[in-house]
Amino acid sequence: MTIETEQDLAHLKVAGRIVARVLQQMIDQAEPGMTTAELDRIGKRLLDHYEAHSAPQISYGFPAATCISVNEEAAHGIPGERIIQAGDMVNIDVSVEKNGYFADSGATFVVPPSTAKKDCLCHATRYALNSAMAKARAGAPLNGIGKAIQKVASNKGFKVIKNLCSHGVGRALHEEPREIPGYYDPTDKRRLWKGLVMTIEPFLSTKSRIVTQQEDGWTLSGAKGNLSAQYEHTMVITEGKPILITVA
Ligand code: CO
Ligand code: CO
Repeated sequence: MTIETEQDLAHLKVAGRIVARVLQQMIDQAEPGMTTAELDRIGKRLLDHYEAHSAPQISYGFPAATCISVNEEAAHGIPGERIIQAGDMVNIDVSVEKNGYFADSGATFVVPPSTAKKDCLCHATRYALNSAMAKARAGAPLNGIGKAIQKVASNKGFKVIKNLCSHGVGRALHEEPREIPGYYDPTDKRRLWKGLVMTIEPFLSTKSRIVTQQEDGWTLSGAKGNLSAQYEHTMVITEGKPILITVA
């Protein structure tokens, strides 16, 4: 969507604040021995408390409130009986609908103890998000986002997962501009515009450039032993710095 009024922005910020709070609570409460379904239930209770709906559930029939992906799983993991172990890399992606407005955020963390490589992958992916956000200005080429992400990945010795993309958001979970790649595509001539609501969500990985759908019909996993990280924010494009929406 494109922000047209102050009211649009206010509604979107309400959705964004809920997303940020739910995500942070889930991260804070994750611990070894817990199943991903238990962690999802914490998120679901908070969504109910805020009278917000799970966006993947209402948009696509996703069978849980949030997406939880562990280790070789990169995205869209279905919370279930998998037990979170010490040392796991866990990604939680929370997106909600509140009063017809959608916001989307995600983050990856390591359940202690971590390793230098896991920490480095998390740091690099956060840095990729910040560096892509620095290129996200009204009028700027949309492929500057992928260019910035790819540059950080290659400088730090990681790969970009090519088939997981950033996207427009706001009145639906996925809107135009769709499929904003995490790598540089010189043939992409699209530009960003003032008021555009979008996510930036780099996915960096240790091995895999492509993730594939598993038998459950949702989970997207890399090669055996692959680790990946994702950080995602919803933001509004302006002539200066983007306005962050998914913040508490
Ligand atoms: Co997301
Ligand atoms: Co997203």
